[in-house]
Amino acid sequence: MKYVGVMPDAVFDHPRVARVYDPLDPDRRDLETYVNLADEFGAATVLDVGCGTGTFCSLLAERGIRVVGADPAGASVAVAQTKPGADRVTWVVGTAVDVAAEPAHQHQYDLATMTANVAQVFLEDEEWLANLRAIHMCLRPDGHLAFETRVPSDRGWEQWTKELTQRVVEVEGEGPVEDWVQVTKVDGEFVTFDSPTIFLADGERIDSTSTLRFRTQEALRQSLSKAGFSRIEIRDLPYAPGRGWLIVAHA
Ligand SMILES: C[S@@+](CC[C@H](N)C(=O)[O-])C[C@H]1O[C@@H](n2cnc3c(N)ncnc32)[C@H](O)[C@@H]1O
Repeated sequence: MKYVGVMPDAVFDHPRVARVYDPLDPDRRDLETYVNLADEFGAATVLDVGCGTGTFCSLLAERGIRVVGADPAGASVAVAQTKPGADRVTWVVGTAVDVAAEPAHQHQYDLATMTANVAQVFLEDEEWLANLRAIHMCLRPDGHLAFETRVPSDRGWEQWTKELTQRVVEVEGEGPVEDWVQVTKVDGEFVTFDSPTIFLADGERIDSTSTLRFRTQEALRQSLSKAGFSRIEIRDLPYAPGRGWLIVAHA
């Protein structure tokens, strides 16, 4: 399925940059948290919202779980479709709202996930609530939603400077690739940063600007309740204790 609407950041939707997303950050031990949750809930069906290049969907498909991976960044989904087990995943180029609009996806999933801070890309309250309501619509009556978000008081963005993050990584088929992150604006809960990717072999530079929202626990609880979730648990994020929260809510 392909939908048009949300404009993903270049860092996820430029084909050449999407192809180096995994080689630039190959350590995905963060996903163990979500694999463990799928086990904890005995999930046979999972909806992964903001699946990106599909590493988590691929892991689940290899474990025999029926998975739908949705992301508005078509270039990232194209990379996902090349991963082991990808032919057993249903891919959607679109958002949770797009998925929920299809009756075949309503009340189908035991678990919905948003790994790697996808939850922070929703800037407006209305957009965030629409996303949560759509996920709720896709979950079975006893299903769960799990996602992570960074702890605002940790002020992690203070480390997002060119000086601290600039690196060059050797990528097979591309040669050396340079990137960094530089915060350009902090406005309350909203943090904006540039993240260029430079292919040093031929000098191509792809610029990307993103804004993330750092919501408080109170705002997270309120929005989840409003969208129909209950038994909202806010746990310390196992792979980033003190820096991230793992939110688990019951549909
Ligand atoms: C940091 S990446 C995480 C990707 C993936 N979950 C992972 O663990 O590697 C954030 C993802 O959110 C996606 N995204 C942006 N807007 C979205 C929306 N409205 N709904 C769902 N996903 C969105 C981006 O395209 C991108 O793939």
